[in-house]
Amino acid sequence: MKVLSVSSEVFPLIKTGGLADVAGALPGALKPHGVETKTLIPGYPAVMKAIRNPVARLEFADLLGEKATVFEVEHSGISFLVLDAPAYYNRTGGPYVDATGKDYPDNWQRFAALSLAGAEIAAGQMPGWQPDLVHVHDWQSALVPVYMRYSSTPELPSVLTIHNIAFQGQFGPSIFAGLRLPPHAYSVEGIEYYGDIGFLKGGLQTAHALTTVSPSYAGEILTPEFGMGLEGVIASRAASLHGIVNGIDDGIWNPETDPMIARTYGASTLKDRATNRKQVVEHFGLDDDDGPIFCVVSRLTWQKGMDLLAAVSGDIVAMGGKLAILGAGDAALEGALFAAAGRHRGRVGVSAGYNEAMSHLMQAGCDAIIIPSRFEPCGLTQLYGLRYGCLPIVARTGGLNDTIIDANHAALQAKVATGIQFSPVTAEGLLQAIHRAIYLFQDRKVWTQMQKQGMKSDVSWGKSAERYAALYSRLVSRGA
Ligand code: ADP
Ligand code: GLC
Repeated sequence: MKVLSVSSEVFPLIKTGGLADVAGALPGALKPHGVETKTLIPGYPAVMKAIRNPVARLEFADLLGEKATVFEVEHSGISFLVLDAPAYYNRTGGPYVDATGKDYPDNWQRFAALSLAGAEIAAGQMPGWQPDLVHVHDWQSALVPVYMRYSSTPELPSVLTIHNIAFQGQFGPSIFAGLRLPPHAYSVEGIEYYGDIGFLKGGLQTAHALTTVSPSYAGEILTPEFGMGLEGVIASRAASLHGIVNGIDDGIWNPETDPMIARTYGASTLKDRATNRKQVVEHFGLDDDDGPIFCVVSRLTWQKGMDLLAAVSGDIVAMGGKLAILGAGDAALEGALFAAAGRHRGRVGVSAGYNEAMSHLMQAGCDAIIIPSRFEPCGLTQLYGLRYGCLPIVARTGGLNDTIIDANHAALQAKVATGIQFSPVTAEGLLQAIHRAIYLFQDRKVWTQMQKQGMKSDVSWGKSAERYAALYSRLVSRGA
């Protein structure tokens, strides 16, 4: 089966979050199921710089008003189709925001162009390759099934994966003409959204199957609290919605082989984590004592509960804990965390910015990772934590709920606990969870048992790739 995957970020070429990890890992995980994937991404400067010997496969003289070329290239075992359109993607900032952190004003056009290019490839415009199905991710590629629905060529089966319903791609109605869709696409069945235009909303209406990245989140987005305005649309498509939990790429996230950590180790050599711990201590300027080091690797946003973390940092220190925080995002949250580091020298350390290698080292050297998210479609850092023996302390929501077994009395007795969950997601809830962690940490036998149990958990793509492959097969055999 041939699948066209369309994503606005794909690891290792370009990454701002978990979407990149998933879009990068899924093609490899699907290969054993007979699925051959080509992945369409925008030709951002980082992408154009990284690729070698690309082959031009398709030219657009007028892709929503700009010239573009699709290049095919292999990179890191992934078969990429790179949409080189300098007018859209050759910018100095990130994939979505400029250097000052503001959304590009033409994001609607940048990602409509990506989607239209995807729909053209789906329609067989790229010589020599005709996909059987299209898999799109989040709002940035959600217009692919919309363009397919309203075009004159036959529609291909399509899957839309919701990685985060908070990001919807909502724009004013004035952009409609620029999308070059027929007038009736601006309707409830199409992209009209509360008088505006909704990219994700249009995709939710037109994709043949919807998936999201954990069973819990699939249930949550049916409710107003988590559906963020789209709960009605989701409810109307509930029969086509599947919750499939993400896995991790074991080739990249494996403490026994990871080249980004100071010392590799496995479940039987956990004491070798000490070398990694020492480097974390040095990098973050922490006191070198035996107390637990809690880490955070996160976008610094309200979703991730980083305000809660800032609020309890002093209490964590008072309880004997240390905190190492790696994050980028909201300037006010960053400021609050730096202020905490200033108040608690040697106990709280902050590293601002994006640092892939450091994120690996922290999982390999810290004792626990704190993830106090208010909502979390899946979450990957808790899965990396499990794999690396860095105990996840997580809010009981979404994928965090589905992947971590709380260290309650029964689970500890049965030796199945892999972390700590807390609810409600408040500063008090978080603090209580940390308190439990510190208590458990004092009993090294129990703690080590939990680390080993976590390292044994199945966080691979195995079962989930099987579910995607089965879903693809059903859609393809049914026809669009
Ligand atoms: P989200 O996609 O919502 O940000 P996930 O947990 O799914 O959350 O994925 C986050 C990914 O980004 C993980 O691979 C994590 O290690 C990585 N990450 C987040 N912040 C940073 C950072 N500051 N430096 C390096 N990696 C980071
Ligand atoms: C989104 C979600 C995160 C999920 C990731 C990959 O960024 O916020 O929970 O793990 O997508 O699916």
